Amino acid sequence: SRVILSGIQPTGIPHLGNYLGALSNWVKLQKSAAPGDELLFSIVGWHALTLPQNPAALLSARNDMLAVLLAIGIDPGRSIIFHQDHNPHHTELGWILSCITPMGKLRRMTTWKSRLAAARNSGSEDEVDESMLNAGLFTYPVLQAADVLLYKATHVPVGEDQQQHIELTRDLADIFNRTFKGTSPVFPLPIYVNTPSKRILSLKDPTSKMSKSSPDLQSRILLTDTAPQIQSKIRAAVTDSIHGITYDPEGRPGTSNLLTILAACTDRDVTQVSKMYENQGHGTLKRDVAEAVEEFLKDPRAKFERIRHERAYLNEVARRGAARAIEHSERTMVECSYNTTHLGFP
Ligand code: TYM
Repeated sequence: SRVILSGIQPTGIPHLGNYLGALSNWVKLQKSAAPGDELLFSIVGWHALTLPQNPAALLSARNDMLAVLLAIGIDPGRSIIFHQDHNPHHTELGWILSCITPMGKLRRMTTWKSRLAAARNSGSEDEVDESMLNAGLFTYPVLQAADVLLYKATHVPVGEDQQQHIELTRDLADIFNRTFKGTSPVFPLPIYVNTPSKRILSLKDPTSKMSKSSPDLQSRILLTDTAPQIQSKIRAAVTDSIHGITYDPEGRPGTSNLLTILAACTDRDVTQVSKMYENQGHGTLKRDVAEAVEEFLKDPRAKFERIRHERAYLNEVARRGAARAIEHSERTMVECSYNTTHLGFP
């Protein structure tokens, strides 16, 4: 049987990239799970602390993210939904793992490299270096590995941007198993589960991914966007002036991104969808994409607007989720503590 685990940062209302790249796959996995499979979905508040946060905004973002998960169909009766920071075992295991993590591996993380590059670009040439960034940004993939290994997860569904972190998680599981050898390995090596629409691109700059941090609000569609907002964002999406529609992610990233979105929202294959538009123009494609996105978001949006205000219910779901999560992780921590303190380094 499988243990499926994934996480998302509580940094505001999710955009279409999060939804199509990750969250919708969580729901699919929940539907197709075998009776013995376990599913855990975590709202990773501690990860959000790597960047400055406004406490009131973070609190409401945590609440909203939980409401989103429920609105899109994650069922608290089937899956364990919980706030990472309700379970202190995450930081505890994170510390143990950081003691076996080679610095070089963390330096090679593209997420770290892009932070570093951004800091270098923004600062004065001389003294700008790593010292401008906090250590949490650097060690954050270790905390992510702890999130996964704490529950002995076997499958981790994430978007493409997180694949490298899952590879690191496998490495750390393996290093731990070899360093603190018990009678049997403590951690299974988790598998990266690719989402069909693994990379949704910015509507304004289709060479980069759709992202929460882009200052251009037109670049992303939020789960809460209304039909007119969706329409105007899709209409303004950057495409190209080539005649006809073809799926060519390299040569026509903007057009291909719209096809990817259309295929994902209507649960079809992208090559099949692109054939249907061969002889059409961008106007028709955009109109159909906007309609498909609206159709796709309509129900979860309405459910979200209702659930987000049911504070007592949300708190109860979070409380139960945390209790169930801790029950699992407690067993792992007992094993880890035994292996680290009794068996020690070789
Ligand atoms: P986060 O919160 O940035 O993103 C949540 C999920 O959304 C996916 N995603 C995308 N997929 C396709 N296209 C996009 N434009 C796009 N933008 C985001 C991400 O790949 C991710 O699956 N470190 C993680 C959260 C995390 C986690 C974990 C995940 C913490 N611990 C343990 C899995 C297991 C993160 O920052 O994701």
